[in-house]
Amino acid sequence: MKLKEKISFEEILGAAFKIRVVEPIDNGRAALTHYIHNYTNGESGFYKNEALSQVKRALKVKFPTENIDYKVAESALQYIIADFKQDIPFPTPKEHKFTFIDLFAGIGGFRLAMQNLKGKCVFTSEWDEQAKKTYEVNFGEVPFGDITKKETKMFIPDNFDVLCAGFPCQAFSIAGRRGGFEDTRGTLFFDVAEIIKKKKPKAIFLENVKGLVNHDKGRTLSTILNVLRNDLGYNVPEPKIINAKDFGVPQNRERIYIIGFRKDINEENFSYPEPVEKKRVFADIKEENEVSVN
Ligand SMILES: C[S@@+](CC[C@H](N)C(=O)[O-])C[C@H]1O[C@@H](n2cnc3c(N)ncnc32)[C@H](O)[C@@H]1O
Repeated sequence: MKLKEKISFEEILGAAFKIRVVEPIDNGRAALTHYIHNYTNGESGFYKNEALSQVKRALKVKFPTENIDYKVAESALQYIIADFKQDIPFPTPKEHKFTFIDLFAGIGGFRLAMQNLKGKCVFTSEWDEQAKKTYEVNFGEVPFGDITKKETKMFIPDNFDVLCAGFPCQAFSIAGRRGGFEDTRGTLFFDVAEIIKKKKPKAIFLENVKGLVNHDKGRTLSTILNVLRNDLGYNVPEPKIINAKDFGVPQNRERIYIIGFRKDINEENFSYPEPVEKKRVFADIKEENEVSVN
C-alpha cells in the first residue's frame, strides 16, 4: 500500500497523546526524536523499532481505514527525515568531537554546556512532564522517562564517551558494610552506577548539591567515591564545590562536581576550572522575548 497523503513530523509526535491511556510507558515520542537526531550515526539503531511503532500509530490515527504495515511506516519516516528542519534555540553542533548521555536532564543545563564544547547528546532521560516540555522546546528532543525502568535503560546506546548525571542525593544502608556497588541498590546512584558498569564510558561527570559532603555523616559521598574508584575502575580526583556565580552566571548556586576517567584512558591533565573575573547580574542575561511552553 502507498499513502496518498503525507503525514507531518508534528502529526506523528502528536499521535502519542491519543494512545497514552493504553500505553503507560510512552517511549514513542522520545524514540522518534532520538532517531531523527541520530539517524546519520550508528546510535539510531537503538531507537528505530520504537520510532517506527510511533509512526505506525500516528498513521493509524490519521488513516483509520488503511492497512498500515512497517513498510508504509518506514517510507513515511524517510519522508520526514528528508524534510526535517527544526527551529530550536540550542541545536546540536554540526560537527561534534565527542558524544554524551544526559541523565536526570531537567531542562538541559548539562546538555547546553556539553554542546558548547562540541558534544553530541545521544540519549536523554527526565521524568518530570514540565521539564520534558521545556527540554523539547530547547533541544527538539523528547527525553525518555524514569531511568530506573528497564524500558528506559534499554534505549541507552553503547559507545558514548561521557555520562552526565545530576542525580538526586539519597542515603545508602551501609551499616557495618564496605559501602560497595551492591550496597547502593535501590537508590538512583545505583542506577547511574549500573549504567556506568554496563556501558563503560570514557568519562563521567556528576553533579550534586553541596550538602552531599556531609550527607549521612559523609558516608554517602565516600560510598559513591568507593564505588566509582574501586568497583567501577575510574580515576576520580577529589570532588570540588563550585559556585556558578564565579563563572559568569548570575546565580549563587553551589554544587559539588564529581569527575571520573576510565583508568585505561590515562587522563593525567585534568584540573578544575579557575573562577573568571567577570561577574554578571540578571539584567545582563535577561532576554527581551521569552518562549512560551504549552
Ligand atoms: C537536580 S535536577 C537536574 C537538573 C539538570 N541538571 C538541569 O540542568 O536542569 C534532577 C532531575 O532528576 C529528575 N529525576 C529524578 N528522578 C528521576 C528518575 N527516576 N528518572 C528520570 N528523571 C528523574 C528530576 O525530575 C529532576 O529534574
